[in-house]
Amino acid sequence: ELGPYRHFMQKEIHEQPRAISDTAEGILDAGDFVPSLFGDEAEAVLADVASVQILACGTSYYAGLTARYWIEALAGIPCAVEIASEYRYRKVVGHPQQLIVTISQSGETLDTMEALKYAKAQGQDKTLSICNVPESAIPRASRLVFYTRAGAEIGVASTKAFTTQLVALFALAVTLGRLRGQVDDAHAAALLDDLCHLPGSVQHALNLEPQIAAWASAFAPYQHALFLGRGTHYPIALEGALKLKEISYIHAEGYPAGELKHGPLALVDAQMPVVVIAPNDALLEKVKSNIQEVRARGGQMYVFADADSSFTESEGVHVIRTPRHVGLLSPIVHAIPVQLLAYHTALARGTDVDKPRNLAKAVTVE
Ligand code: F6R
Repeated sequence: ELGPYRHFMQKEIHEQPRAISDTAEGILDAGDFVPSLFGDEAEAVLADVASVQILACGTSYYAGLTARYWIEALAGIPCAVEIASEYRYRKVVGHPQQLIVTISQSGETLDTMEALKYAKAQGQDKTLSICNVPESAIPRASRLVFYTRAGAEIGVASTKAFTTQLVALFALAVTLGRLRGQVDDAHAAALLDDLCHLPGSVQHALNLEPQIAAWASAFAPYQHALFLGRGTHYPIALEGALKLKEISYIHAEGYPAGELKHGPLALVDAQMPVVVIAPNDALLEKVKSNIQEVRARGGQMYVFADADSSFTESEGVHVIRTPRHVGLLSPIVHAIPVQLLAYHTALARGTDVDKPRNLAKAVTVE
């Protein structure tokens, strides 16, 4: 069942070009980002959406955080993202034109389900589930559904479910942008083309595995690590830190790079490696100056920089070149190296990669 792979996690990481292309198939077949991708009722439900509230847990929550950038940029409507276990226990201010989006690989996560029920009890009836398991509880309780086609995910650490959730959320952002007249035909066609090329870029990122495995052996002895990113790559920094802690048991934290000097910089010394997600986007110069701040304190930097960027190696700054910058879809490509880094670090430390201690695949209890 594992084929050439040592663990389900490794197999699932490598399945991502296939999983992404299967998930994108319906979109590419439709030839545009159309409401019907989200179900029969979608045209009516999405037509007058004025804001979006995303609810999820863990890695699925990080997919939601990424989507906020896309939804606000492409559709021009406010988007909030909240951890389901927080939302369900506070007084929330909803709105009839607010779209409630739950994201769940399993479709059975109790807190996400309860957050959805709570929203519905407040009179919110525009509900959309992004889910990987057909006919599971959360999509059954939602009016609209987009099923990711990652296939069964067995490793406890979510990988292919995350990147396919991002594809679904990207499609949602563009669809809302189309409905609101913010994304014209030419722009939609260009974004569709980008989506079409995405599996190839993800495959390029997977080909970096030997270089990343070499970094992982340097990483294995560390006790702590920081992950930095900005913009759509800030949630990828959070995801990289979560992957590393859950399977290698190294304490890791993700931060927006601009927050460094507001506290975490105090932690940086030669024992604190800093992973930086540094795509070739409008924020690259800002990220470069954040890197200088860390270097000045003796921290070792591990930077994932796009092939077409001017970023270069220097003393204490190790660089792996990811594929050419892919625009708005870049966080999906940059998710791959941080998954591989966590996987190979765990391998070097000899932990149980597919079944990390204390964790379950579907969290159906509180
Ligand atoms: C992390 C991980 C968890 C899940 C979370 C939500 O690798 O797998 O953080 O993402 O438990 O699960 P779902 O998406 O099934 O609701």
